[in-house]
Amino acid sequence: MSQLTVVANRLPVQPPPFGNGLWSRSPGGLVAALHALLAVHGGTWVGSTGADCGESLPTDLGYRLQGVSLDEATVRGFYDGFSNATLWPLYHNLASAPVYERQWWVAYRRANEAFADVVARSANHDSSVWIQDYHLQLVPAMLRERRPDLRIGFFLHTPFPAPDLFTALPWRREIIQGLGGAHVLGFQTADDADNFRNSAARIAERSAESPPVIRRRLPARADVGVFPISIDWDHWQRLASSPATAARARELRAQLGSPRHVLVGVDRLDYTKGLEQRLVAFRELLRDGAFVAPETAMVQIAVPSRDGTAAHRDERARIEQLVGEINGTFGHVGAPVVHFLHRACPPEEIAALYRAADVMVVTPVKDGMNLVAKEFVASRVDGAGVLVLSEFAGAARELTDALLVNPHDVDGLKAALLNAVAMPRGEAERRMRSLRAAVAAHTVQDWAASFMGRLVPALAA
Ligand code: G6P
Repeated sequence: MSQLTVVANRLPVQPPPFGNGLWSRSPGGLVAALHALLAVHGGTWVGSTGADCGESLPTDLGYRLQGVSLDEATVRGFYDGFSNATLWPLYHNLASAPVYERQWWVAYRRANEAFADVVARSANHDSSVWIQDYHLQLVPAMLRERRPDLRIGFFLHTPFPAPDLFTALPWRREIIQGLGGAHVLGFQTADDADNFRNSAARIAERSAESPPVIRRRLPARADVGVFPISIDWDHWQRLASSPATAARARELRAQLGSPRHVLVGVDRLDYTKGLEQRLVAFRELLRDGAFVAPETAMVQIAVPSRDGTAAHRDERARIEQLVGEINGTFGHVGAPVVHFLHRACPPEEIAALYRAADVMVVTPVKDGMNLVAKEFVASRVDGAGVLVLSEFAGAARELTDALLVNPHDVDGLKAALLNAVAMPRGEAERRMRSLRAAVAAHTVQDWAASFMGRLVPALAA
């Protein structure tokens, strides 16, 4: 795989915020998954350096980094605008209202061209290129045109919406056509792959009625497959079973005031993650007296994310208000009920938190996969802990022994949280055994190998 070029909007590391020379790991599951792959096999990662990255890229990751520089207006229209205020909510079942803005589309196309140009210039002859996610859906066709010698794969980390939603997008044809440039197109679940096929078919039907000059460009025949993404099992196992992590987990519980029940959430601060739904259910359980502080505590890590979009800023305000209200009503001096951290934490601390939890609460209203749920399972080397998981996360397909919930159903969510804290040990251990077997059986290495295995023979044929 040393010839592999991975192309993603984000580089796996982000520049030092205060010019202190220290690059840090970029947020999100995509980065975690692909860093693990390239660190072992080598290759090149092409990603945006944004508008004004004065720093030179680190060279000690075990693979090469190649930057795509975009001017500030392009970043705003492409990233804040089209990617995160149009596509993101549209691809997550309208978790907020998508904004359709023609200038953003122009910037999206311009940014995709810039990525395609950089890859076309730097990829080795006859090598493989693996393009990632909703930011770069035009790159496959752009690259195919520039470099027909390349094997081109594309993987969508988010859900793909149902045809009724997707076809509302004014630029639906261009997106389908862009994706169609890939030899292999990968989705997280069978539903996503079906939604893509049905959307493409519907758009092709419509364009059959259009003049032939338009018809000719629709849609290339990609090999569509389902490749549920996963985590680096060994990495999380190692991290979680170190004595330092176990000690830190005990210390965390003590710092929380040694409650009987500790509920934990770890998410990017995003309206798709269902933080609000989970806090509303938690507040009601406190109101009902079913949960009592300080006997029960919740820790919520909310990693700062996309504060350039109004919907994300509004979400932050709503969550902070809810947390304040819960703590104001049910907390005690020196003992809040919800311990809310709006910041990223190092993986060692997250592993300790996973181990300190009695219940992990993962309640997205829609999620491509959700790797946090899988990280939690991998970290429970002690075989304990209960996972409450939204049925709208891709991970729910594999993690069927979690307590599956509909996050919109407040009563159902309350019942699941109560059930989770009261679950007899034997049942919790049986469920965790089955969850661990499911995650161990399909790691991020398996994910990458199955995608690459499909990509390379696809061209040989
Ligand atoms: C999701 C997306 C990724 C993205 C990550 C972090 O997992 O699928 O493509 O990198 O969120 O979001 P950000 O906007 O910070 O890159």
